[in-house]
Amino acid sequence: MKRSLLALAVVASSTLVACGGGNGSTNAAQFPQNTDMWQGLGGDTKAPAAVSKVVNDAVTGLLADPKTAPYFANIGKPGHDSADRLTACLNLQFDALFGGPYSYPGQVVADGRLQTCDDMATAHADVGIPGCVFDQFIGDLAGALTADGVPQAYINRAAPVLVGLKGQVVSTTPMYLGPNTAQNCQ
Ligand code: HEM
Repeated sequence: MKRSLLALAVVASSTLVACGGGNGSTNAAQFPQNTDMWQGLGGDTKAPAAVSKVVNDAVTGLLADPKTAPYFANIGKPGHDSADRLTACLNLQFDALFGGPYSYPGQVVADGRLQTCDDMATAHADVGIPGCVFDQFIGDLAGALTADGVPQAYINRAAPVLVGLKGQVVSTTPMYLGPNTAQNCQ
């Protein structure tokens, strides 16, 4: 477990190439109403790096948060995402969300090969995420977006989309890891 977390932390804190959107996927924009945000983040030349920094910082924050970190313990193990795939798929998803010319789920290059990211229900099917851990994740993510200088107006527009994924991400048979219990996780 520790080795997986360490590997993910190392990858998250290294200078990752934005391998989400800009790697051969030729999808149409999933959120064309957000293309102004993409331009505001620097457009095709600069926005992928800005999104990649947010993703890396968000992952680092999630691994430093005792309420979210335990759920990432299987990263890098057989049958689970590698750190590279997880960050690549997150990059694609956030490139799309912030108005880039991409759609999620789609294809990414991760671990040196083309891979297809999973939809949200499939990706989280065996993670056992309780509702309060999802809420904590959203708070941590918003903190990373703010810390990286993403305008509050952009965060306000992206947040409902992310919060709207809750039903697909949380588990009907949640696991209470870290400090959470069923009693304090309403
Ligand atoms: C709106 C909220 C969320 C979004 C947008 C999101 C996005 C993603 C994406 C794009 C992937 C990669 C899918 C793939 O590899 O095909 C993923 C996987 C994963 N996510 Fe999330 N996620 C969210 C919430 C959470 C929460 C709350 C947790 C736990 C605290 C979590 C833990 C994981 C784990 C552990 C994986 C890898 C699963 C495995 O391979 O076994 N996610 N997520």
